[in-house]
Amino acid sequence: MSAMARCVPMNAVDSLLVRAAHRRPVPRTPVWFMRQAGRSLPEYRAVRAGIGMLDACARPDLVTEITLQPVRRHGVDAAILFSDIVVPLKAVGVDLDIKPGVGPVLAEPVRTAQDVAAIRPLVAEDIGFIDEAVRLLVGELGGTPLIGFAGAPFTLASYLIEGGPSRDHARTKAMMHGDPALWSTLLDRLAQIALAFLRVQVAAGASAVQLFDSWAGALSAADYRRFVGPHSATVLAGVADLGVPRIHFGVGTGELLDQIGAVGADVVGVDWRVPLDEASRRIGPDRAVQGNLDPALLLADWPVVDREVRRVLAEGRDAPGHIFNLGHGVLPVTDPDMLTRVVELVHTASAR
Ligand code: CP3
Repeated sequence: MSAMARCVPMNAVDSLLVRAAHRRPVPRTPVWFMRQAGRSLPEYRAVRAGIGMLDACARPDLVTEITLQPVRRHGVDAAILFSDIVVPLKAVGVDLDIKPGVGPVLAEPVRTAQDVAAIRPLVAEDIGFIDEAVRLLVGELGGTPLIGFAGAPFTLASYLIEGGPSRDHARTKAMMHGDPALWSTLLDRLAQIALAFLRVQVAAGASAVQLFDSWAGALSAADYRRFVGPHSATVLAGVADLGVPRIHFGVGTGELLDQIGAVGADVVGVDWRVPLDEASRRIGPDRAVQGNLDPALLLADWPVVDREVRRVLAEGRDAPGHIFNLGHGVLPVTDPDMLTRVVELVHTASAR
């Protein structure tokens, strides 16, 4: 599919983000923030007042406004679609809600073969509101690329099996090891859903995608290799023909970094625990890196933030491509002016 057919402005295709992701030279390091649209912004809280998270995600006008807010305010080099990893699950009929301060919560957890069989495939018609929001956004964004995203099969499975957020992912691991056939069936279904969700976003004009396997760091390298990596590989291989860069991210994945890259990413997202130069050595020369300022440090005084941003940039220079980001999402208590200053500093300090 050509960029023209997708109606993406050519400058979005040739943006700093896309170039850095493909390990091509850039005049300065591109920067965006996971969870850049959200509760750190007063304009977000104003627009969201009285509207539930999943209701907001289903309204293309609100999705467009909320996605654009951090681009306007901070001058970041990419927008990320305002949505959630559980939106495609809701769209195929899983009874769930997103509880403020908690996260996704299911009415009935998925535990049996019958529960798994009830999860049907996602078709484009289920998410017309996503197609519409992405098209509206691409029209507004001009040369700024839009990042589409999906939750990876393991992270989605954890919410489904646990019935909500979990610290230890105990029931998830119990199914993985106790009933590998059922596990594989569930992850296959989730991979197809994630893949369909990404393809709709790219067809509508997204210039890059990020696969969030946020909780993969809970796994041993052996479990990741056997039970998880192959299903994430299905998702990433399934969008390869679209030609957009694929970013693959998880938290606490220091011991998995080589595998996170090897299952089929152009860019590996790294949390704050491993410095980017070391992370890049673990990942290898064929992939760019994204990260990795600790989001907690944005609560420190500016001299600390200034020093740490410069350190991340210096460590990122050793990688074959670097997209500046946080090591995980923006914390709601973050002063948004701090984010704007970080963008300015990344832009000036990385200029070559
Ligand atoms: O700015 C962006 O990054 C784009 C939007 C985005 C949201 N969720 C919006 C959101 C993205 C990419 C996600 C992905 C997501 N959702 C992940 C993977 C990223 C990560 O953080 O690791 C996960 C694990 C989820 C599940 C989820 N949804 C959680 C843990 C929460 C937070 C619960 C809370 O209130 O603390 C949500 C809700 C959610 N998703 C919010 C936002 C802005 C907060 C809801 C609100 O503002 O009322």
